[in-house]
Amino acid sequence: MEYGNKVIDESKQGQAVTLKKNPKGSKKVYIESYGCQMNFSDSEIVASILQKEGYNTTTDINEADLIFVNTCSIREKAEQTVRKRLNNFHQIKKNNPNAKIGVLGCMAERMKQQLLEEEKLVDMVVGPDAYRDLPNLVKEVETGQKAVNVILSKEETYADISPVRLGGNGVTAFISIMRGCDNMCTFCVVPFTRGRERSRNPETIVQEAQELFDKGYREVTLLGQNVDSYLWYGGGLKKNYENLTEEEKAQSVNFAQLLEKVAQVSPDLRVRFSTSHPKDMTDEVLETMAKYENICKYIHLPLQSGNNRILEMMNRGYTKEWYKNRIDAIRRIMPDCAISTDIIAGFCSETYEEHLDTIDVMNYVKYEYAYMFKYSERPNTLAQRKFKDDVPEDEKTKRLTEIINLQQQHSLERNKAAVGKTFKVLVEGVSKRSAEHLFGRNSQNAVIVFPKKDFKPGDYVNVKVNDCTSATLLGEAV
Ligand code: 5AD
Ligand code: SF4
Repeated sequence: MEYGNKVIDESKQGQAVTLKKNPKGSKKVYIESYGCQMNFSDSEIVASILQKEGYNTTTDINEADLIFVNTCSIREKAEQTVRKRLNNFHQIKKNNPNAKIGVLGCMAERMKQQLLEEEKLVDMVVGPDAYRDLPNLVKEVETGQKAVNVILSKEETYADISPVRLGGNGVTAFISIMRGCDNMCTFCVVPFTRGRERSRNPETIVQEAQELFDKGYREVTLLGQNVDSYLWYGGGLKKNYENLTEEEKAQSVNFAQLLEKVAQVSPDLRVRFSTSHPKDMTDEVLETMAKYENICKYIHLPLQSGNNRILEMMNRGYTKEWYKNRIDAIRRIMPDCAISTDIIAGFCSETYEEHLDTIDVMNYVKYEYAYMFKYSERPNTLAQRKFKDDVPEDEKTKRLTEIINLQQQHSLERNKAAVGKTFKVLVEGVSKRSAEHLFGRNSQNAVIVFPKKDFKPGDYVNVKVNDCTSATLLGEAV
């Protein structure tokens, strides 16, 4: 699912973030976000909508008038984390009895009424397409009622809303370019929680990138569940290019064209994107990436499984051979491109031999990085309705462990190969381990730590790598 917890630092999960100092007397909203980048990006839209209503963000839950939890449903564990957190709110209510509590995002969509009924503390349940309605919903709860809006939209992209950048470093930011997903991978809950696929007006995307650049930002990540199927033709649900009218074709913008427009904002603005679906990854996209130095040479290309029978059951829309062909195309067009992936171990009826096909593709690609999961059955997905979750838990664990061990080897090999090379690094901040060191990323998305000297966040620095761990490169400015 082109979605994952990627790039969002694990330590940020659930952390409430703010940039602003609260003027005395203003109302305050506290927002905790879980899950994927899209949720963190959505929280910035929520903050923007509420700011117009006189709310500032706060990181102190005890002084908040509104407490929001932006939730994730992707795996059962993600939901359990949020439910535990909601239970903690009993304690918080004791210190802050007047605060109203809202559940936002995917769990709101999936569990709706159930949340209001079971978790008596919850006052408000708001799905991912209903944030514009927050001012009304907040007024409703202020009068002591409960409020719900989980209507999914065919149009909503929040295109005109300028997000309040929360907890950022002032250097990198997310821009949401599309919402929803039409792929219906059988294991995935996202098509149900985030609705149908729709693309955002490219002019508003370029404008947002320009504004960020003007404010000093130096990197944008274009976000969507399935960015490479982006297609603007005037608005509305996703269509295939062949189904557009002549008029729609004339104004259509596909993902490669959008990437180019954003890359042209400035050669000093790096462009990343997440997540791509292998079936939509065209040579046109790869060639556009190769053409612009500032489009980062990094692709997250979820494999899920390397076995054709399992891929078919997952409804992924490609075979192992197709996937390897896309890898070959990436290597041919951008030899220096890093590739990461998502893998699910122990999907319904997967045999050990079929699992070895996944291992085989891993050995073929040697990913820089991977997000690896045990299959977790999700209510109402096609897999839950059609197939049995019949791989025993200990077998899932065994296969996942094999996958993780192999990936660790590959990550270390990749990092070792970077030693001795010099990379252009965009500085993001001070290293967590040492105030005398900065950290940033190279185009390939590897984290590089180096002595601070006079450099600062937002600078581009050429760094020669002289050492590594399996997670980080260490170097020296040259
Ligand atoms: N079980 C396990 N992993 C899942 N993912 C999505 N749904 C499930 C599920 N039901 C993984 C996929 C996806 C990533 C974000 O989460 O690998 O790409
Ligand atoms: Fe990604 Fe498939 Fe889920 Fe869509 S349905 S979000 S492509 S895993």
